[in-house]
Amino acid sequence: MAYKFRRQIFGFMDLLRFKRMVPVRENKLAEAPATPLPLTYRVNETAKILHPGLQTAELVAVEDVAADMKTYTFRLSKKMIFRAGQYVTVGHNVGESFVSRPYAVSSSPFTALRKGELSVTVKKAGFFSGWLYENAKPGDSFTIGDPSGFFFYDGVRDRSDIVGIAGGSGITPFVCMARAIAEGSENFNLTLLYGARTQADLAFKAELDRLAGNNFKVVYILSDENKPGYENGFITAEIIKKYAPESYSVMLCGPQAMYDFADKQLAQLGVGGKYVRKEANCLGNRDVKPEKYNLTVHIRDEVFKVAADSRETLLAAMERAGLKVPSKCRAGGCGYCHSRLIDGKFSIAGGDKRRLADSKFGYIHPCCTYPDSDMEIEVPQGE
Ligand code: FES
Repeated sequence: MAYKFRRQIFGFMDLLRFKRMVPVRENKLAEAPATPLPLTYRVNETAKILHPGLQTAELVAVEDVAADMKTYTFRLSKKMIFRAGQYVTVGHNVGESFVSRPYAVSSSPFTALRKGELSVTVKKAGFFSGWLYENAKPGDSFTIGDPSGFFFYDGVRDRSDIVGIAGGSGITPFVCMARAIAEGSENFNLTLLYGARTQADLAFKAELDRLAGNNFKVVYILSDENKPGYENGFITAEIIKKYAPESYSVMLCGPQAMYDFADKQLAQLGVGGKYVRKEANCLGNRDVKPEKYNLTVHIRDEVFKVAADSRETLLAAMERAGLKVPSKCRAGGCGYCHSRLIDGKFSIAGGDKRRLADSKFGYIHPCCTYPDSDMEIEVPQGE
């Protein structure tokens, strides 16, 4: 029986009603079964699988897949569900610091769910990827983050025919998509235009050829070699038109130079706006005159003084100093590193992706923010 309080002139009426409520409660308690409450509920278990949080995973295999590219397969300690095209962070201690980077998953969603294994394919480039290439070996333990990012097919947002444009290690999310289409965990049509310099730079070619069928097609475009069975040159408007279906959305993953070139080609075809999506690239050093700055970092009740450099992001400066701070995409897109600016001048790279309220009330994303003066910021504690 629901008990209703009514507005009274004299508050003591509420006291009388409260007194009458006591026997009602006692009756309800007496009627209730004595069986203990369940320890967990299905919805909680599903939420745990959808958002497993950081987990420890053992590296179980390392495999060469192309020039300077390796696939690293991890045995997960928790179940994981993800959409083909998403990324996870992979972290490990390097020297004194814990370092992590986002990598697109190359294995299929069913492999994670049924075998408990997940693979990322990484090109030897940059600090952590270079370290992985030289040092990671089966048996090593890593920290794997939640599946993240929006670079996946969405039936509401995208047309059912997707033209994928991949360059270099940007092939990784598309390999995952091709595997997912084949196993039935994704349902859309993918025409993949895969550009590389030479045949030796193509990763997963044998498997992509094997997966090609009704819903998945692949075309290879080599810029530095002219071979039968391959297109030669770059992924131009002419090539896209030759292989694309009548109406399509475009998903691109590759280096910035490829995006700049593809923008011009797609504009010639009248394809743009919501029909074109690009996977963001991690931001590295910027090309400016080197200047040394002081960065003051507040994390909860502690204050740290960190050396910063005009060429590197605030996130890189904090990580180099051994501070444990949050990061995921490292491209300004996920908001995970969202921090409060207290003082200082800065520049943002890769396009300002902050919400309007964040820029208005002085919040920044250290992963894409470079110092232009001494700075003071307040950062959430990393996990
Ligand atoms: S790590 Fe994603 S916005 Fe900074």
